[in-house]
Amino acid sequence: MGQHSSGVFSHNAPGLALCLAALLLCAAVIYLSQDKQQRHTHAGCLPQHFKLTTMRNCTPWLQCSQIRAEVHKLKVIGQGAVKKVYLAEWTGHKVALSKLASLDYLEDFLHGLSMLQALQGSLVVQLVGFCLEDYSIVTQHHPHGSLLNLEHVFRQQQYQQYNTWSLRLRLATDYVTILHYLHNSPAGRRVMCDSNSLEKTLSQFLLTNDFHVVVNDLDALPEVNWSKGLLVKCGHRELTGDFVAPEQLWPVRNDGTLFSDDSMPAYDEKTDIWKIPDVTQFILGRAPEGELVRFHLFQIHNDCKKEDPKLRPSALDVLKVYRSVYRAMVQDASGVREML
Ligand SMILES: *[C@@H]1O[C@H](CO)[C@@H](O)[C@H](O)[C@H]1NC(C)=O
Repeated sequence: MGQHSSGVFSHNAPGLALCLAALLLCAAVIYLSQDKQQRHTHAGCLPQHFKLTTMRNCTPWLQCSQIRAEVHKLKVIGQGAVKKVYLAEWTGHKVALSKLASLDYLEDFLHGLSMLQALQGSLVVQLVGFCLEDYSIVTQHHPHGSLLNLEHVFRQQQYQQYNTWSLRLRLATDYVTILHYLHNSPAGRRVMCDSNSLEKTLSQFLLTNDFHVVVNDLDALPEVNWSKGLLVKCGHRELTGDFVAPEQLWPVRNDGTLFSDDSMPAYDEKTDIWKIPDVTQFILGRAPEGELVRFHLFQIHNDCKKEDPKLRPSALDVLKVYRSVYRAMVQDASGVREML
């Protein structure tokens, strides 16, 4: 019996195990390196830890005592209904300190914080710490500010080299990637409700130093779940204009019937899809080479503007087209270079 067990198979077993282990290790390394590519801002920290680009090690989220003692306000950099945002300093690192602006908006503030915690990853601004008692949240500071500043940033001498159609298309792709993430997030299917105008929508996203986009403001991310009968309404007031999706408009506005929140039908995440062409148009800007990109995106953007939300593509459908256009155009561009 002892001899049987030392037969061919058991002799090779350690070798086989070693091979398997090596394979698994390879798979793990590939998996991790892919993950790292995605997490360009959160350098692979454990949950509830952060690491700013100027830091060597991951550190646990700051708590009340540290925020009170170590985070110093420098100046106001943003003011909304819900939050007042300060540029602040923490042990030599620049951070953004958000304070609740009015107790009327406590619920939105807490919702924003819980979303920030639940959705941490490369596509969401990095949480540095928070203190519920003081209504304060500390996040990574991105000096370029929101996407509203995009043209201003590109006009500066030192960033003009980045002002290319390929980088702009990549930024638009980041934005659609974020929508896809929110629509399929660990916290369920989430709709970007703070998006009733182009300006408002752009102000929710920050431009990172390495020219990527992260979503910053998660104060209005209601959940959609058809199987639970869960739909959303972005606020309780009547929305107007053609930036918002048609299903967000008061349906009987032309009959002279006054708006009533109770009678207003709810909708789903396809409102975000309706807005993609306008946001992308802004990100691509007016550069002449952008024309060709716009041409390639024409069909998918048309589909985003379908009146019937069910006929609009998903964020993933849009993302696939953006990526293939990007690949095709980069190839063409390098082909032209080779011919010259
Ligand atoms: C919707 O709710 C069901 C039941 O609670 C759940 O199993 C499902 O994962 C939810 N879907 C999404 C997209 O969150």
